[in-house]
This record gives sequence, structure tokens and C-alpha cells, in this order.
Amino acid sequence: MSEKEAIRARAPRAKITAPAVVEMKRRAEPIVVVTAYDHPTARIADEAGVEILLVGDSVGTVLLGYESTLPVTMEDILHHTRAVTRAKTAALVVADMPFMSYQVSVEQAVLNAGRLVQEGGADAVKLEGGERVAPAVRRIVEIGIPVMGHLGLTPQSVLAFGGYKVQARGEADQERLAREARLLEECGCFALVLEGIPARLGQAVTRGLGIPTIGIGAGVQCDGQVLVSHDLLGLFLGRQPKFVRRYAELADGMREAYARFVADVKARRFPGDAESY
Ligand code: KIV
Repeated sequence: MSEKEAIRARAPRAKITAPAVVEMKRRAEPIVVVTAYDHPTARIADEAGVEILLVGDSVGTVLLGYESTLPVTMEDILHHTRAVTRAKTAALVVADMPFMSYQVSVEQAVLNAGRLVQEGGADAVKLEGGERVAPAVRRIVEIGIPVMGHLGLTPQSVLAFGGYKVQARGEADQERLAREARLLEECGCFALVLEGIPARLGQAVTRGLGIPTIGIGAGVQCDGQVLVSHDLLGLFLGRQPKFVRRYAELADGMREAYARFVADVKARRFPGDAESY
């Protein structure tokens, strides 16, 4: 059976919940996460069997042309989360909390997490950081919103890191990251993204937690893997990290399709004989 036939033959899936994601770790079943910022991508990735759709603040660099994720606002994330949740996917939809939407106070964090669920339709939220966000995570979880943590090369701290560099190379930083991972689990996170850290640390943190780790540049031993959709589809024209694997070259296909349309219009081959709708 071809991949296409297998996708068509697949039985409809039940909605994937945060507890179901934790259960996948117990079954040692790898968890597949991709970013989605729009309705068709959400539907297509869902049909392909992806388990979690992340409306990442990477929307800023990937779709909106910003140089970092820092300018992304709550309104941006809400807008794209609504587009994704309208697809009514079986995949769990996680909305990323943008920079300055959760750092000021626990109250601000709770209100904005609530907006992403109430106005955006998200199933869960994600925020970056360890100890400093622990009180906010605890409170958001207490009011009933599943939270995904994010440690390592957290892009909202790019200015403090001085660039997109692998984090936690030294022993002290590794111990701190492992401690913060345990703290986030204690605070109630249902999963934890590990980004841009040595693979050995990814493996050690994964072994030490009951909740699943989702790696991005954190080695193959994480419980799941996440990629930015535009990276895996060959649609992102900017700088790509070394760990990215492209599964398609859609930018080439799009360029060729546009070029053919340009040629047809210029040569009056389009719209052919059809005069109207
Ligand atoms: O915003 C995003 O896409 C992310 C993933 C890369 C984990 O945070």
C-alpha cells in the first residue's frame, strides 16, 4: 500500500488529549509534533497522523517576516490559533504564549492562557522557561489548562543568549536544566519541549521524567520530536538549523507553478476558451 493509500485508509482518530499524550510515553510510543499556523496545514498534518499541532510563535519568523519571535503578539497567536482550531483536528492544539504575555505576573499569565483557550479554542498552551515561570505554570494548570514547558535554547531569550546557540554545554547548566525539568513536571506540565541541547542531556532528562519530552535539536532519545512545518516542507527561505530534515521541496514546486502561470498569462494560454464561471 502506498503512503497516500495508507493515509486514505486510516480510521478517523479520537481527539488526542493532554493525558493521552502522557500515556504515549508510558507505552513508549514516539510523539509527533509539527507547527501549524493555518487551516489547510492543520487539516493536512492531522490527516497524516501528527499528534500535536503547535501554533508556535515561530509564526513570526516563518510567516510574518520578523527576525525573531520577540515581536509576536497575543493577537497574532490568537488569530493563527483560531485558524488551526477551526480545522477541528484529532491532534491536540497547543498555542504558544508569546513574549511578554506571561512574564509580568502570574495574573497576566493566567489571563492570557485563558484567552488562548477561550477565544482561540486551544487545547493547551506552551511557555518558555524554568524556575522563573514555575508559579505561572502551577496556577495555569490549577485552573484546568494543560501546559507544555520549554527549556534549553528558548528563542524568546535570544538576546540574552547572544544568538541561537546550543545551550547547557557545561555541567552546572546541565544540572540546572535537569532540575528545572523536574520542577516543571512537579508544577503539572504534561509535556516538555527540549530545544538545542546536547543529545546526552536530552536522553538523561527524558529518562528522569514521567512526562514526555519533545525534542528539537535535542537528540533521538526524546519521547517525541517537533519540527517547524515550513522547515520540513522546504518552504522556509531563511537560515535552517543543522538538525532539520526536509521531507519535501515545496518552495521549488511553488516557484515552478508560479512561473508556469506567468508564462501562460503572458502567452495568452490562460484562461483558454472558458469565458466565465
Ligand atoms: O515556536 C515554535 O515553533 C516552537 C517550536 C520550535 C518548539 O516553539
